[in-house]
Amino acid sequence: MSVTGTTIQLEINGVAVSVDNVPIDTGMTDFLREYLNMTGTRWSCRQAVCRSCTIIIDNPDGTSETSLTCVMPAITFIGKKIRTIEGAAKENADSPVAGLSRVQEAFLKNFAFQCGYCTPGFVNEATVLLEKLKREPVARDQVEKTITEALDPHLCRCTGYVRYYAALKELILATPELLKP
Ligand code: FES
Ligand code: FES
Repeated sequence: MSVTGTTIQLEINGVAVSVDNVPIDTGMTDFLREYLNMTGTRWSCRQAVCRSCTIIIDNPDGTSETSLTCVMPAITFIGKKIRTIEGAAKENADSPVAGLSRVQEAFLKNFAFQCGYCTPGFVNEATVLLEKLKREPVARDQVEKTITEALDPHLCRCTGYVRYYAALKELILATPELLKP
């Protein structure tokens, strides 16, 4: 039985992408990795458990949210604006380390990761959290709880959780615009 192909059009990291003849049952992780060679989105459990495959969706109302890709068909992303880890380093042109984003810098500075397989998912989740806190600043005494709620669903097989959490806490506490006065 042949599977019908379709055209997948969306925006990735600010660039319009269109690919024809994609089998309609293609998963989003496969689409990114196999059709676009964007291998920064990681495939681990493939069962919506570990979140290593997390990307960012930019909503029309200016908010952002994370989404898994391993259990999502690519066709569900047609017409959306998404960001993958390949777009993160462009966020901060002032960074002394090859334009890494502020989250990436914080994780690097704190030696937050070991093998790094889970890191794109953590970076994207933390990025969305910072964007949320820009809209809705958090009280200082709620920072740890807020980080825990955001990062807890992400699994790190090297078990480097403490430093991911500490790096993000340090970054948030050093950014007045994310904190309630
Ligand atoms: S690979 Fe998607 S949640 Fe684990
Ligand atoms: S750093 Fe290795 S899985 Fe997280």
